[in-house]
Amino acid sequence: MTEEREDGAETDGRDVHRPVMIPQVLEALNVQPDCWYVDATLGQGGHSRAILEAGGSVVAIDRDPKAIEKAREDLLPLYGDRLLLVGMNHAGMGEFLAGTGLVVSGVVLDSGWSMPQASEGGAGLSFEGEGALDMRMDPLLRTTALDLLENSSPEEMAAIFSNYGDEPLAMGIARALAQARSRGRLPRTPKELAAFVSGVYYRKGYRRSRRHPATRVFMALRIVVNGEIDSLVNGVSGVRPVLVSGGRLAVLTFHSREDREIKHLFRSWVREGWGRLLQSKPVLPGKAEIQENPRSRSAKLRVYIAT
Ligand SMILES: C[S@@+](CC[C@H](N)C(=O)[O-])C[C@H]1O[C@@H](n2cnc3c(N)ncnc32)[C@H](O)[C@@H]1O
Repeated sequence: MTEEREDGAETDGRDVHRPVMIPQVLEALNVQPDCWYVDATLGQGGHSRAILEAGGSVVAIDRDPKAIEKAREDLLPLYGDRLLLVGMNHAGMGEFLAGTGLVVSGVVLDSGWSMPQASEGGAGLSFEGEGALDMRMDPLLRTTALDLLENSSPEEMAAIFSNYGDEPLAMGIARALAQARSRGRLPRTPKELAAFVSGVYYRKGYRRSRRHPATRVFMALRIVVNGEIDSLVNGVSGVRPVLVSGGRLAVLTFHSREDREIKHLFRSWVREGWGRLLQSKPVLPGKAEIQENPRSRSAKLRVYIAT
């Protein structure tokens, strides 16, 4: 069965991640042979590969060591010294890139998680997962999703679900969780949490839809556990000064909160006179792509050009 995730992946057990809006990203970056580009979210390498095929050279960054390892096996033998793999949080990429002395002609950042990460039970992202309710992308992070549910007030939980998941039943779910917690029945695995949220939906009279009822709650917890908004904003802010004049910064987001942050950041840079926008509205995927890859449905691409 296929499960559709708001931010991401369509999980059908095949561990395939389809890159989103490749032609639009290539056009946005205006890829030129022999110039260096940064892929701040290597993942399964879809965007990196497209840039390399177009003749560009790529610094590919990912905080997940498995993504780096896979690219070492799949991409490095093909592209050699045109590909530099870096395992790090892209929050610090500006400083790192400045230290390399490379002239950066463009950066792409495709936020969120890749399909294999989403389908792995280990991180606690799959609705069927029976392991710990963890969700940490990086084991050095201290707070797990379960810690958040154990230690947040109903209001704090509701704010998480609403602000980071646009969850319409945020308060109802938060209150139900707090009640379950007081009876010692807090869901402790992804599977239990998914069933718990579904239960709240069904009690409120909602019936089956294409999207799993727990999609938004899972996304919100994942974003908070991994500090994804801070990493995104710090990464994008930090990389602006290393862009060459005319260099482009293309950011793909899948969530309204992330898009808002990028929109405001880019607009503030334009006001400061540092650059311009490729276009004022975000670029969206076409109908054919959405049909073929439902993950792309909520994608928004914003592009900034340095002057
Ligand atoms: C949506 S996937 C990227 C997919 C990729 N564009 C492709 O075509 O295969 C996002 C990737 O970014 C990585 N990632 C997320 N947040 C990160 C961060 N703060 N620093 C570095 N990598 C991050 C994830 O580990 C994941 O591999």
